[in-house]
Amino acid sequence: MTDTDNQDKRTLREVASEACKCIDVGVAVLPKLLLNEDVYASTVRSEFNAIVVEHHMKWAPLCQDLPGPIEKGTESTRVGRYDFHHCDQIVDFGLRHGMKVKGHVLVWHVTTPSWVQNMTAKELSEQIRRHIFTTMGHFRGRIKYWDVVNEALAPDGSLAKNIFLEKLGPGYIEQCFRWAHEADPNAFLIYNDNKVEGCGLGDHSRKADAFYELLKNLKAKNAPVHGAGIQAHFNAAGVGLQRPPTPIAVKRQIRRLGDLGLRVNISEMDVRISKLPMDENMRTNAQCDIYRDIVSAALSEPAFDGIWLWGFTDAHTWIKHFYYDGDQPLLFDKEFKKKKSYYAFRDALGTLSIGGIVGGKQKLFQRNGELEPWGKVWMQPEPNFVSDKSSNILPSGDSNPDWLQR
Ligand code: XIL
Repeated sequence: MTDTDNQDKRTLREVASEACKCIDVGVAVLPKLLLNEDVYASTVRSEFNAIVVEHHMKWAPLCQDLPGPIEKGTESTRVGRYDFHHCDQIVDFGLRHGMKVKGHVLVWHVTTPSWVQNMTAKELSEQIRRHIFTTMGHFRGRIKYWDVVNEALAPDGSLAKNIFLEKLGPGYIEQCFRWAHEADPNAFLIYNDNKVEGCGLGDHSRKADAFYELLKNLKAKNAPVHGAGIQAHFNAAGVGLQRPPTPIAVKRQIRRLGDLGLRVNISEMDVRISKLPMDENMRTNAQCDIYRDIVSAALSEPAFDGIWLWGFTDAHTWIKHFYYDGDQPLLFDKEFKKKKSYYAFRDALGTLSIGGIVGGKQKLFQRNGELEPWGKVWMQPEPNFVSDKSSNILPSGDSNPDWLQR
């Protein structure tokens, strides 16, 4: 389906508003584009009911300045100076247009300011607490939903070897949630991670199992964790640990997270297709299947409350800088025209409209015990040699996410 021959002109936000339950349809935005490009801003405003700042609300971008004297000659006691102006403009844009605003992300080893690297455990702990209170305090009353800790798990499901784990031990995750709850007792607090979207896939879902266990342990300790964010940065050509999960695996993961009392959201969805064979139909089918069927499956779960895209136009995607250039992972093309994946995504939202059919035309779920060969048109065969690094079946041992591994 394309823009011209589509009679149904409803936007994503309009379809979401007709759903039988409140569903966030959110998007990560870039300040410079939202504040300066009309078509970018008007598309965000009309298509989405929720917004998150793609990068500028993280710790280092918020207080780039190194510690140092505020007035000439006086030793600064404040470590880092906060500059909220970019984020304030985005948050105010979202609130002005009746959008939910999500804070992303308070504690993530990738965007920790350089000046904490050499601190003692006590100093680091004090700085994390100060950052959480400073940031949540600044947005209190405007932002209720927070990604508190991000990507604390390594690809093999162990805790990522980052500065927090090394200096503060595994308890840092729980501690961050307790500080966040202290900073704003009304806030909805989320743990967010990638490659955790589906379970029941044997070796390929070790990290998804670890994600579940981490949240189960936090809930068992009565830690104030309310939500789980599954990022859904999918590579349609992925194999091994990079393979996209099936819809049924996503349903299973959301179901068991919901059984812990958590709400679940897809937090950063995009679907890379450029590593598939050079076949336009296959690439389009793959992207449409994944957006429509994974999102339909997620929406069919009671604990599921929202989908957040990591950008909306192929003209501006982080994939270009962190994976490879030339991919088209989103719902709008570079000229901001709706792609077939837009309509597939909207079909998924429509499954929650009155009379909507879960899974649309696709056979998403098990039929008579047989799992439909979902993705048979585009899924790539697993390589023969398990030890083959390129297959990504075995994590490289680097505790950074694949997009940070070089
Ligand atoms: C990315 C942003 O999109 C980039 O602009 C930035 O330079 C690096 O971070 N998982 C996350 C996001 O939780 O915060 C990351 O966003 C992408 C991976």
